[in-house]
Amino acid sequence: MRKAILTAFLAFATICNCQAAKYKTPASVSVIPQPQEVLADKGHFNARGASVSVDPALGEFAQKRVAAFATRLSMASGKESAIVKKGRIAFRKDATLQAEAYVITISPKKVDVAAADLNGCVYAIQTLKQMLPEAIFAGEAAADADWTLPCVLIRDWPRFQYRGMHLDVVRHFFSKEEVLRYIDLLEMHKMNRLHWHLTDDQGWRIPVDAYPRLAEVSSRRAQTVIGRNSGKYDGIPHGGCYTKAEIREIVAYAQERGITIIPEVDMPGHMVAALAAYPELGCTGGPYEVWQKWGISKDVLCLGKDATYDFLKAVFDEVCELFPSEYIHIGGDECPKARWKECPDCQAKIAELGLKGDGKYSAEYYLQSYVTKYIENYLASKGRKVIGWDEILEGEISPNATVMSWRGVKGGRAAVKLGHTVIMTPNSHFYFDYYQTKSPKEREPLGIGNFIPVEKVYGFEPFTEDMTEEQRSLILGCQANMWTEYVATNEHLEHMVLPRMCALSEVQWCRPERKDYDRFLGNLSKMLRILDRTGYSYAPYIKEDGKVK
Ligand code: ACM
Ligand code: ZN
Repeated sequence: MRKAILTAFLAFATICNCQAAKYKTPASVSVIPQPQEVLADKGHFNARGASVSVDPALGEFAQKRVAAFATRLSMASGKESAIVKKGRIAFRKDATLQAEAYVITISPKKVDVAAADLNGCVYAIQTLKQMLPEAIFAGEAAADADWTLPCVLIRDWPRFQYRGMHLDVVRHFFSKEEVLRYIDLLEMHKMNRLHWHLTDDQGWRIPVDAYPRLAEVSSRRAQTVIGRNSGKYDGIPHGGCYTKAEIREIVAYAQERGITIIPEVDMPGHMVAALAAYPELGCTGGPYEVWQKWGISKDVLCLGKDATYDFLKAVFDEVCELFPSEYIHIGGDECPKARWKECPDCQAKIAELGLKGDGKYSAEYYLQSYVTKYIENYLASKGRKVIGWDEILEGEISPNATVMSWRGVKGGRAAVKLGHTVIMTPNSHFYFDYYQTKSPKEREPLGIGNFIPVEKVYGFEPFTEDMTEEQRSLILGCQANMWTEYVATNEHLEHMVLPRMCALSEVQWCRPERKDYDRFLGNLSKMLRILDRTGYSYAPYIKEDGKVK
């Protein structure tokens, strides 16, 4: 028996050695994000008409993704790639790989794909699709294109476990179909989190059965300010609220692609839309109207009234029912304390809790820390964890909160020093609502300002020099934020995220030694052709400036 095991081991070792010996020339492939390791051998595999198989151990979603890949390959190459038991392109589970990893071994006869899990399988498919003619993305017939793949060994895994994009559907509403299209972009870029900003001063986009006026009243504003708070209004009502069925469909669509949706209910500030429907939850009692302009409102949730805590618990109950995500984003940003200072209920609460100001923060900051901790505990009782914007560091941070560092990286640096996990979304590099060129007035649609070109996004490094190894291990990953005050259409939305998202994906995925901006620009021309084929809009500046062909 022991001899049999040894023989099997030697045979396996020989195969591995052989493989290592065969694929020995370091290479790169035109894939974004660039895989961690690519070794080339001689020869090609003809994918046209190649049969495809998938190991059921990879699960139902992986089987669906592989079937969709086979369908696209058949349509585009003009020859059927049938799903069979033992395909020439074979996807199998390999439990020895780290989470989300995959290994593709292409030989003239076979494409062997080993994947750790659903995500590894989804990413292997993306890599193969990008290595094939771009027609495969659209499923358009291109029988005359070159359907061969070079013989390479690709070992690939993500640098960071959290690779996200954010989407604000409040300042402007985006339909279910548009959100699904956005999720397709995440899949293409091997991202695994969609941070969905669902509530704010200007609207409320998630129905809550216990508070029906959120869908009826808070979801709709009478009109929208023109430009940057010009004082003129467009007179056009704007709104939208997803149905629960739509939200479930979006969550399931993302899940099948290895993407977790993290919903955000921004509290206790950015709540004017909710107050318009339930004015008793504000300090002054209103009246309030769903905000029609941009900025930060003084009117926030009253933290001195029991009704506010009942409201928050009911909202998060229904959020948790709809979203299986371990993390729930509870906002926490830009919450002025002026109303609380004057509100007898809030002051009574401060006294009851014994909160005191100190040299750094007033008692009202500690009142915000109190509600953050209250909701953290409530969500923990349901097995969930919270993420908050970096303002949650002010006063006293909740013990188990993850910090989303948006005002640069300083919040992230401070949080890891306190032992908290962090997601880097600095507005210095990852605010995709910022302009992309130095002369936006001549070249770009109206935006919020500032300047974050593709190269700047690409150059971001989440670890700062002063971080210890232990502190670095607390950086879960990075995300870019897409606020939509000035972005009213889907075409404009795509123009803002593309191609900056391509650059972001290499920051999230590639080890620093795999990053190379010139190589990236070379690969970007293929990516832009893919986007052309699939009908996505993207910012043309990098092409106009001659940086990409
Ligand atoms: C933010 O940009 N207010 C998080
Ligand atoms: Zn109050």
